[in-house]
Amino acid sequence: MDHFKNPRNMGEMKDADAIGENGNPVCGDLMYIYIKVEENDGKEIISDISFQTFGCAAAIATSSMITELARNKTLEEALKITRSDVAVSLDGLPPIKMHCSNLAADALHDAIKKYREK
Ligand code: FES
Repeated sequence: MDHFKNPRNMGEMKDADAIGENGNPVCGDLMYIYIKVEENDGKEIISDISFQTFGCAAAIATSSMITELARNKTLEEALKITRSDVAVSLDGLPPIKMHCSNLAADALHDAIKKYREK
């Protein structure tokens, strides 16, 4: 509830290095994850991250949480963040809302994939 009422890192990032996108065709919710990547000691680090989510409370909370989990991680580390990591970090989600947590992890992975394709 805290991440829904006080979402962290919400908003469009104009100078993002890559934008991940994911949607759920069943409910129509849509999520964008913006990442900024910096090289440090040969490692690619997510130095900034934000999100825009057009969706339910759980989708907003999981977006907020994944930005907290991925910030300052290497791309390799961020790719290891799973759908269930997001739900566990929020102290669980109601079973009917578990599918909402899939959007955030998949949108983050999409952003990293697009960054690497550039
Ligand atoms: Fe659509 Fe939660 S109901 S993502």
